[in-house]
Order: sequence, then C-alpha cells, then structure tokens
Amino acid sequence: MLSNLVNKYNIAGPRYTSYPTVPYWNNETFSLEKWKSSLVTSFKESNSKEGISLYIHLPFCESLCTFCGCNKRITKQHSVESPYIKAVLKEWHLYLDLFDEKPIIKEMHLGGGTPTFFSPDNLKLLINGILKDAVVAENYEFSFEGHPNNTTREHLQALYDVGFRRVSYGVQDYNETVQKAIHRIQPFENVKRATDLAREIGYTSVGHDIIFGLPFQTLEHVKETILKTKALLPDRLAFYSYAHVPWIKGNGQRGFKDTDLPSAELKRAQYEMGKELLAEVGYHEIGMDHFALTTDSLYTSMQSGSLHRNFMGYTASKTQAMVGLGVSSISDSWYGFAQNVKRIEDYYELLKDNKIPVYRGHILNEEDLIIRKHILNLMCQFKTTWTQDQLYFKELPETLLQLKEMEADGLLIINPNSIEVTKAGQPFVRNICMAFDVLLQRKQPDVQLFSMTV
Ligand SMILES: C[S@@+](CC[C@H](N)C(=O)[O-])C[C@H]1O[C@@H](n2cnc3c(N)ncnc32)[C@H](O)[C@@H]1O
Ligand code: SF4
Repeated sequence: MLSNLVNKYNIAGPRYTSYPTVPYWNNETFSLEKWKSSLVTSFKESNSKEGISLYIHLPFCESLCTFCGCNKRITKQHSVESPYIKAVLKEWHLYLDLFDEKPIIKEMHLGGGTPTFFSPDNLKLLINGILKDAVVAENYEFSFEGHPNNTTREHLQALYDVGFRRVSYGVQDYNETVQKAIHRIQPFENVKRATDLAREIGYTSVGHDIIFGLPFQTLEHVKETILKTKALLPDRLAFYSYAHVPWIKGNGQRGFKDTDLPSAELKRAQYEMGKELLAEVGYHEIGMDHFALTTDSLYTSMQSGSLHRNFMGYTASKTQAMVGLGVSSISDSWYGFAQNVKRIEDYYELLKDNKIPVYRGHILNEEDLIIRKHILNLMCQFKTTWTQDQLYFKELPETLLQLKEMEADGLLIINPNSIEVTKAGQPFVRNICMAFDVLLQRKQPDVQLFSMTV
C-alpha cells in the first residue's frame, strides 16, 4: 500500500517555504519601489505589535560538501570576513532609513554557508552593529547554524553574550562511507563536543540536522545515525529528505552518480523507520521534516497553533515582516517577497551605490494571499478551513477533484468547510499543497525546477 502511494505521489514539487514559490514570482510586475513600499506598510502595521524577523546569510565555508544545496562560497581566506560584515551592516542601514521608528527584533537567524567560518569577534561586531539601532523584543529568539567541526567555545560564548540561545548543527549521517561520498568527514566526537559545549554555556535549544536519501546510505546507516543522535538528545531535529537538485548552477552537487542514491522506495523506508525510531526516543513530528522534544518551543508552538513557516523553515512564532540580509537572502513583507543577488561581487557593487541589493521578487495579489493562507495552514497545522468567499479561485473544481482522489487514497478528510490531513497523508503534505497551487497548475514547468516530494 505504502509503496503504491510512494510510486503515485513521488513527483517533483515545491517545499513551500513561500507561496507563490520562487520560480512563479512575477518579476514583471515587481519593482524595488513596490517592494520598499510593501515593507514600509507591513512595518507600520506590525512592528510595535509583534516586531520583525531578521535572517542574515553568511555564505563562506572552508570546504565543499558535495550534497549541499545552499548558496555558499568556498574559501580558506578569512580576509573575506570584514568586508562582508561591513556590507551587511550597510544593507541594514539602507533598510533602517526606510523605517520611521526603531525596529523591534523578535527573531534573528544566522544561516549559511557557515556562520562559524567567521571569528567570534567578527560575529559579535556584526550582531552589535545590527542591534545598535534596534530594540530587542521581550520574547526574542536568536539562533544560528554551526558547523560541528569548527564551532568553538569562543564562538558559542560570543553569540551567547549577544543574546543567542539556540544553535543547530549540521550532522547529516555518521557513517564513514556516506561521509566520504558527500565530502564531509565529521566524527561523532566533534558533534558531541559542540553539543556539550553549547549546553554548558547555557543554550536552551540545540538542534541537529540529519538527512536520509544520501549517496550509499542504507537503512542501517540511518538507524545508526539516529541511535547516536539519541545519545546526545538534541532538543530539535531536522530530518531532511536529501534534495537532489544538481541543475542549480554552482551548488556543487557532484562526486557521486545518480545510481549511488537510494531508490525512492528505500528513501521512503528510511523516512518511515527514522520516524518510528524518533518517536520511540520521545520526538514529536512538527509539520514537515522537523521533530522536537516536548520541552522545545517548536513543539509548544505547534500545540498552541502559533507554528509558522517561512524561508527559514519552521519557526515558533510569526512576524509579518522578515528582512533578509546578505547574498541570496529572501525578505518577506507578507504583501511581497524580494531576493538579493546571489554573487558576492554583485552584492558589493550594488551596495557601493547605496542600492538595496534586490534583483527579483513578487508582489502578492488577493488570490495569492488566499492560497498562501491555505498552504501555510496545511504545512503548519495539517488542516485548513474556509468560508465560501475565501476559497474562490478559478481552478477550485479541479483542486476539489484532486483532493477527492487524495481522500480516496486515505491522505486527507474533506469536511464541508475544511480539509484535514490524516497521519498517512502527512508525508505527502507537499502533494496536498500542490492541489492548491494554482500557479503551478496553470503553467507546468518545462524543465525540472523542484526536488522530488518523497
Ligand atoms: C547551511 S547548512 C548548516 C550549517 C553548516 N554549514 C554545516 O554544514 O554544518 C544547512 C543545512 O541544510 C541541509 N542541507 C543542505 N543541502 C541539502 C540538500 N541538498 N538536501 C537536504 N538538506 C540539505 C543540511 O542538513 C545542512 O546542515
Ligand atoms: S553543508 Fe554546510 S559546510 Fe557544507 S557546503 Fe553546505 S553550507 Fe557549507
């Protein structure tokens, strides 16, 4: 039964960190002026009520992992740190100039690349530079991504001193054959050291990222990785499906053949087994890909219905405005999205001319806003409700037809004014969201844009 469902629903599909998804943004109706005005509106509406979120992309890594789909620049030259920090602070000031009051920072996340590529002093310089002209919200959450191989006590302490209480470490898989294939040698001792250090210093949430579907990975390897994870008991766990997207320029996914990857069925079996083991350990599944202990804010926010999803993935609370700084970062004003240029040289060039370094985006229309709400509900709560006027879009009959078929397959239940995803349907939530994605239905891509849903 499960393998039939996998065969049927394993298609290329978005991960819905935004709606509309990036390839469907309408860049023709977008302009920097419209983006700025949508952010200013959003800021006025929400800053004093809930604050804003900040995402800062720090793109450098010393060594290339050949599975990695993130935007990164490989270098061992640490002289790149200072100019980059100066540029990010300049970008922040261009945003500050738009606002008529100090932003209240509710959430801040440092992603990458490898934030711990930067020296502790430079990270402190960056954060102090950001906070100098801002106010920190009462229940703020500051977090960063650390590489277990290079996160030192000094990194953890420096970021703790400026308010960080959550760190997530890239683990992927502990098996040596898999680690060799992905060019990432990282023994358990390194992860243990980084995890213990964070707890010793006072971090209240330590997360690990592990991946299934990697080259040469077997069921046994996933089991081993989870058993080792159990020994360290991170508060949060991302259990990602390996996204194979080698067509994205410059992402460096190479060093193994497509035939070295597990089949879709093995991949699904790895996920199912992993999920069971994680439940035995005491983890609860949060939306898609994420697991948390009952003491972690991701779990409590799911229980209270405040779980949110944006470009950073799942977050414990929603802010209407999110500013993304650094190369390739995406900002979200709720009424619009904007993405920064991806090349560091282009980023510097635009900032030199005092230009916000955005190169594409999308302004949401009424229909986008309605559909975005349903997709967010499904991704965060596994259900969505509507009144008649809220569900109006041209393709509604086709959406309902697709939903009915999924109901027959046991993936969801349709009620008069709502749908609920069943336990069996949860792994297929991306497929369910696709039934609402009218932009995808109106224009199927000519080439593969998204990773497979399983
Ligand atoms: C920026 S990295 C984490 C920080 C640090 N650079 C490191 O590698 O430890 C973000 C995470 O994205 C996940 N990731 C990257 N490429 C991926 C892919 N192709 N498929 C699934 N997950 C991926 C990995 O789990 C990785 O830990
Ligand atoms: S997984 Fe992390 S360290 Fe490896 S290339 Fe990607 S961002 Fe860099």
